[in-house]
Amino acid sequence: MTAEEFRLLRDHVYAHCGILMREDMKFVMERRLWPRLEALGISDFSAYHRYLRYDAQRRAELEAAVEALTTHETYFFREMAQLNAFTEELLPLLQQRNASVRRLRIWSAGCSTGEEAYTIAMLLRDSRRFEGWDVEVYGTDISRRVLTTARRAEYGPSSLRTTPPEMVSRFFVPLAGNKVRVRDEVRAWVSFGHLNLLDEESYQLVPRMDVIFCRNVMIYFDLPARRRLLRIFNERLVPGGYLMLGHSENLLNLGADFELVHLRGDLAYRRPMLPSKVGG
Ligand SMILES: C[S@@+](CC[C@H](N)C(=O)[O-])C[C@H]1O[C@@H](n2cnc3c(N)ncnc32)[C@H](O)[C@@H]1O
Repeated sequence: MTAEEFRLLRDHVYAHCGILMREDMKFVMERRLWPRLEALGISDFSAYHRYLRYDAQRRAELEAAVEALTTHETYFFREMAQLNAFTEELLPLLQQRNASVRRLRIWSAGCSTGEEAYTIAMLLRDSRRFEGWDVEVYGTDISRRVLTTARRAEYGPSSLRTTPPEMVSRFFVPLAGNKVRVRDEVRAWVSFGHLNLLDEESYQLVPRMDVIFCRNVMIYFDLPARRRLLRIFNERLVPGGYLMLGHSENLLNLGADFELVHLRGDLAYRRPMLPSKVGG
């Protein structure tokens, strides 16, 4: 792959989904995309770039390229300190705040194979605060392949590596071959959909959320893409709704319109209450 080919492919991928391959990632890109060239019978990256731009199959191929270039690493009960703060401090508040409508909407944005969305639903079930409520946990991702796994809800030991044993026995059904399936009572609160976080048309069907989890996704975006996404999240949250980021992510230098909330043992961000909604 020449420097020029790298630049063209990197810019094309970035414009589509906000994922930025740094200069030192040329070899990573080359290694991850090479199987696509082989599958298509294309011999060099310039021809592959032309295919991505002009071929009738370009949309499907762009999805395949993004698929090959993205990291889908995830597991149940990831970043436990934050989840504890969510359970102990935010859930009582949300129970109180939404008591009159008995409805809760939570979004796992960039959910990968679904472990995060199911973890949230398990914490909600475990709290017993929302029985009989209308609860929806939405998991969305740009990759259709990971969503197929998420919907199947069957996982191996590596997905469970930080799951407390009592949660395993409570919320999973054992299957053959060391695998487990998420119990139906948890699955009933979770649904999955395909959504490119940087495609504003995608958001038309997204309802207003009480909480958005977007963990370990923005690390792959550059500053302008992060700013765009935060504007969208702000808009998609109810006033007073919470944004939970990964432990290595923060809103420093992003000028985003969020308040920092100090929870015991962790931080969260909150969309400020609009003056017209205060007390309402
Ligand atoms: C490392 S995983 C994080 C999964 C989970 N949130 C967690 O923290 O365990 C990042 C996910 O973000 C998704 N992603 C990357 N860019 C995206 C975009 N523009 N729109 C939607 N999802 C995207 C990837 O497909 C991948 O599944």
